[in-house]
Amino acid sequence: MSGASADLVAALAALEQEAEQAIRSALGRDALQRLRTEYLGRKAGRLTAILKELPSLLPDARREVGARANAVKTALEALLGEDEAAAAAADRAARSADLTMPARPVWRGAKHPVTLVIDRINRIFGELGFTRSIGPEAETDWHNFYALNFPKDHPALDAHDTLYLGDGVVLRTHTSPLQVRVLQGYPPPIRVLATGMCYRKDPFDASHAPAFLQVEGLAVDEGITFVDLKATLTRFARELFGTATKVRFRPSFFPFTEPSAEMDVECQICRGKGCSTCKHTGWAEMLGCGMVDPAVLENVGLDAERYTGWAFGMGPGRMAQQIYGIPDLRMQYENDVRFLSQFTDMA
Ligand code: DAH
Repeated sequence: MSGASADLVAALAALEQEAEQAIRSALGRDALQRLRTEYLGRKAGRLTAILKELPSLLPDARREVGARANAVKTALEALLGEDEAAAAAADRAARSADLTMPARPVWRGAKHPVTLVIDRINRIFGELGFTRSIGPEAETDWHNFYALNFPKDHPALDAHDTLYLGDGVVLRTHTSPLQVRVLQGYPPPIRVLATGMCYRKDPFDASHAPAFLQVEGLAVDEGITFVDLKATLTRFARELFGTATKVRFRPSFFPFTEPSAEMDVECQICRGKGCSTCKHTGWAEMLGCGMVDPAVLENVGLDAERYTGWAFGMGPGRMAQQIYGIPDLRMQYENDVRFLSQFTDMA
């Protein structure tokens, strides 16, 4: 072997050793890419620089040194390929599980407090044999008022209080028109509960809202008396608030019931002692009720001599205020998750 070819073989061996070391200690894909260019780059790589010397050698030496150079190239390629694959896998693993990332909050859904109250009401009356019904929010004035025995000059009909859609259609001001629809659609015996949105031209303040939910109840059959009403509603209040809860019925007036009453429960916030929420009376208004006025039964074609019934209506939003101690009704409408996530079933 000539001196020139021996020098080149030695240079190749040195290059191989140096490259091998550099590749083994390189960290990451970028570093490996730089080494690939430095040693194996086609134009300015260090192996290429050695190969440029080949034409000056005799054919035999050229073949021998060329074969050496190829072997070095193959060995380095293999080494680089292995390390690059490992580095790529490491990169991927690092990307898929970056343990320094802050944890993402996990949101748990929560039921709205008014939904929780309605669920509870539905369960209690469901156990007492009440079925459920729904009806339209845009009602005829006949269903909303006249069939329910409201006189034409009743103040509730005033445009100051009711939202008129035109052509004798209003946004229902209460769920009582559902009594009319149920009685028109089904023969007694009837025990039904209906929940729905109602609308009034009320201010939006701590205890009023222009759109609010009501729950309506109706029982019609032969031989139903005020005793059924009192017994059922008392039981309902005690299921809801606890067996020792005091209730009272006060005489009241509604056009569609005769006699009419309002049921109060012991204020849940002060337990009857008197506080600012119950205006120091110790009682909280819970619902309006009464015996279905015979005129209503006749308006839907029922024989009022044969059938009697009782009905009630209440605002689950107001009840949620009592049950959960919510000071301002408007909080129920804001849908602030910090507020909504605080409530759990009261059962
Ligand atoms: N509809 C009445 C209101 O909105 C509530 C009501 C009172 C409903 C007495 C009834 C009832 O069914 O019997 O204020």
